[in-house]
Order: sequence, then structure tokens, then C-alpha cells
Amino acid sequence: MDESTQPQHRRRPRYPGKNPRLFEHKYKELDPARHPETVAKVLASGKTPAGSHVPIMVGEVLDVLQPRPGEFSVDCTLGHGGHALAILPRIAPDGHLLGLDVDPLELPRTEQILLQAGFRPEQLTMMKSNFAGLPAAMAKLGRTGADVIIADLGVSSKQLDNPDRGFSTKADGPLDMRMNPSRGLSAAQWLEKVSPDKLARVLSENSDEPHAPRISSALSGRSFTTTAEFAAAIESALSSFPSEERELSIRRVFQAIRIEVNEEFTALDTLLRVLPQSLNPGGRVAILTFHSGEDRRVKKSFQAAHREGLYREISRRVLRAGSEERHANPRSTSAKLRWAIR
Ligand SMILES: C[S@@+](CC[C@H](N)C(=O)[O-])C[C@H]1O[C@@H](n2cnc3c(N)ncnc32)[C@H](O)[C@@H]1O
Repeated sequence: MDESTQPQHRRRPRYPGKNPRLFEHKYKELDPARHPETVAKVLASGKTPAGSHVPIMVGEVLDVLQPRPGEFSVDCTLGHGGHALAILPRIAPDGHLLGLDVDPLELPRTEQILLQAGFRPEQLTMMKSNFAGLPAAMAKLGRTGADVIIADLGVSSKQLDNPDRGFSTKADGPLDMRMNPSRGLSAAQWLEKVSPDKLARVLSENSDEPHAPRISSALSGRSFTTTAEFAAAIESALSSFPSEERELSIRRVFQAIRIEVNEEFTALDTLLRVLPQSLNPGGRVAILTFHSGEDRRVKKSFQAAHREGLYREISRRVLRAGSEERHANPRSTSAKLRWAIR
């Protein structure tokens, strides 16, 4: 081999101090091609490799949605394309999938994944859009109703595990938390402006945080730049509590503020309102939720629309991931699946 074409030998990076501090140094799983043994070890231990997204309850979602050849499907939360990849072969060769996502950073990557998987542009449209605008998004394709709709709520592991996005409690990054970083206030900006009362309300309503008043009086109106700084401030506000309790509160506070800066409940309420008329007669919708604030909304909306005759049938009980999936992908543990048929 000519020397100029030989792969260059790269030295293992030297970290200042004993342990790597940067996320990309810490998690070898981020580069699976170079560290397959690490990925295998992480999977075998029942964890999800950092930076990868494993779609949740795919079998159950397909069972309730029953996508058929030729059908028009909408994935309201395209994410990493996990559910779309399962639906597309079932609606082929003449079906079409419209994938929506608000995230302008992940969307082009997902587009690459789906096109590389062999799906043609005639089979697939990807749009940067909030699912609250579902009827308008479908109208752009000349459609008024879908046969299959899926929404897998919240953020993907890709977003959560990327410290640059500011969702992470595990690794340090700017305190942002926006799914679309070019819209609205970052978490840091929002925290600087929020009153103690409003923060307490957000923490209790969005995450059932039991220490909401104590945390909000310690944190509201303060300036935080990074996720680690913010997590440390929550910790110190709860210094008299055991460490496991502090950990849980940190996670709940991050979740509550993420829901707020992304206006997740407003978007979900709008989607639930427009869903029945966005389905063709006989059309099926499945929604995966990850905490009680979301599940309550879906359950109540499906029940009300069923009573009004807008849905022919709805799930009587919530479906959960099986024990095998829960072991293989702990992120599925909190997932709840509900469905409705127009
Ligand atoms: C849990 S992930 C979906 C993962 C996907 N089902 C998969 O298997 O790869 C949720 C995705 O929905 C997007 N999202 C959240 N709220 C949204 C909204 N209101 N409108 C459009 N996309 C949204 C997020 O940016 C994220 O990419």
C-alpha cells in the first residue's frame, strides 16, 4: 500500500487527570465501529449504549396499528426513524409515510438513515414540523386523513445523551433543553425569568416533584450556564435529603423544565384534539407516553372522543413493554401504549 493511502495511526487521546471528563471520551459506545466490544458489553448489562436510540414496543405498536400495503401513515415523532423503519415495509410498495419532527439537527441524519435503508422518496416525506400542526402538514401532501398514526412522545436517546443539547444530567453541557434550538427560550434563559411561584407550579404539575417549593425558592431567577451547575444547585437545595432522593429530584426537575421550554403539553393537547378528524374511517392511532402527565391526557382525550362517537374503539387498558424488552432497554420501563380506532 502506498504510504499516502495508509490509514493514519491515531494515538489514544490523553486526558488531563485520572478520568476522561468529556462525554465523547467517556462513552466509547458513541463510536460503535471502533468499539464493538464496549457496545456488546453495555447491551449485555441491560443498558442502552449512550447516543443510540432503540425504538420502544415496536411489536406492540405494529399489532395495534396493523399497517397494510398502500396505506398512508404518519409518524408524528420521527426521531431516529425506529418506528418508521418498522412501518415502511408493511405499507410498501405503494404506501406513503409522512414523518414529522421539530428537531432540525437530528432530522437530516434520520433522512440519511431511511434513504440508506433503501426507501425511495415516493414512499417517504420528512418534514420539520410540530405535530400540533398535523392537519396542515398532511395538507401539504394533499391529504386530509391517515390510515395509521404513531406518536412516541418526549425526546429520543440521541437528544438526551448528547450533552451539547443540554438535556443531560449525566454529562456537562450548555443548559438548553430545546428540541428546536432556534425557537423559544433555552432552559437557562427561562430559569432566569421565572418567578418562584411559577417554577414551583411547573415542577409539581409537570413532574409531581415533592420538593417543588424548596427547589423553586432556591433556584428561580438565578443564572445557570451548564447542566452540571444546575444539577449541583438542585443537589445543594436538597442537601438534607438522602442521595437517591436528590438524584430522583434532579431527574424530575430536568424533565419538568424540558416539558415547559418545549411546550410539550400544549402540543400534545392540540394533537389529541385534531386526531379524530386526521384519521380516515377505520384509521388507527397509537401513542407511547413516558410519564403520568402525558398518559393522563391521552387516556382522558381517547375516552371523551369515544363517548362522543369520534372513535369506534379505544384501548381499555394500557399496554406495557414485556420483561425481556424492559431488561434489554431500561428506557422502555416507563412506556405506556394506548390506541384508538376511528
Ligand atoms: C422518543 S423520540 C421518537 C423516537 C422514534 N419513534 C424512533 O423510534 O426513532 C421523540 C421525537 O419526537 C420529537 N418531538 C417531540 N415533540 C414533538 C412535537 N411536538 N412535534 C414534532 N416532533 C416532536 C423529538 O424531537 C424526538 O425526535
